[in-house]
Amino acid sequence: MTNIRPITKEEPYKIVFVCLGNICRSPTAEGIMQHLVNERGLQSYFYIDSAGTSAYHIGEPANSKSQQTANRHGVKLHSRARRFEAADLEEFDLIFAMDHENYSNIKELDKNGKYTDKVLMMRKFDPQPDDKNVPDPYYGGMDGFEHVYEVLRRSCEKLLDELSERIDH
Ligand code: 4NP
Repeated sequence: MTNIRPITKEEPYKIVFVCLGNICRSPTAEGIMQHLVNERGLQSYFYIDSAGTSAYHIGEPANSKSQQTANRHGVKLHSRARRFEAADLEEFDLIFAMDHENYSNIKELDKNGKYTDKVLMMRKFDPQPDDKNVPDPYYGGMDGFEHVYEVLRRSCEKLLDELSERIDH
């Protein structure tokens, strides 16, 4: 992975998950990651957020199918949709795009390519990366939401395993 700085309580590591609407995929990633961080007692070391590249759903909670799916797995989604903005490129240590379109939209805000190293594809951490996109479940049925949950769960576990090696206790 990108060179990860030491992670301390004084300077928690800031991660933002990004999709199109910020109501399905990225809130699920945020909820799972926060759940894993809490489960491992690492709350002081991480700050987890999510955002969308579009303005379609600003202020909305996570989609009800995303919430139902996460709840079935014991994960709560607390997000309110917001738009990803250029200032987030500076603010966060790592920025995760759910698909290639999200990646391009994020990179369009990075005019000079200064932040290339911190923008990554989410499925880089998936042991079964498929076509590298987390598929958009918005127009489909519950099975699509379940699939997204499974992909994000195993990707977040792998990501947190790797980041945890950089924690300076
Ligand atoms: P998300 O899903 O990007 O995973 O939050 C979508 C939500 C809304 C729309 C598209 C995708 N939309 O077109 O409104």
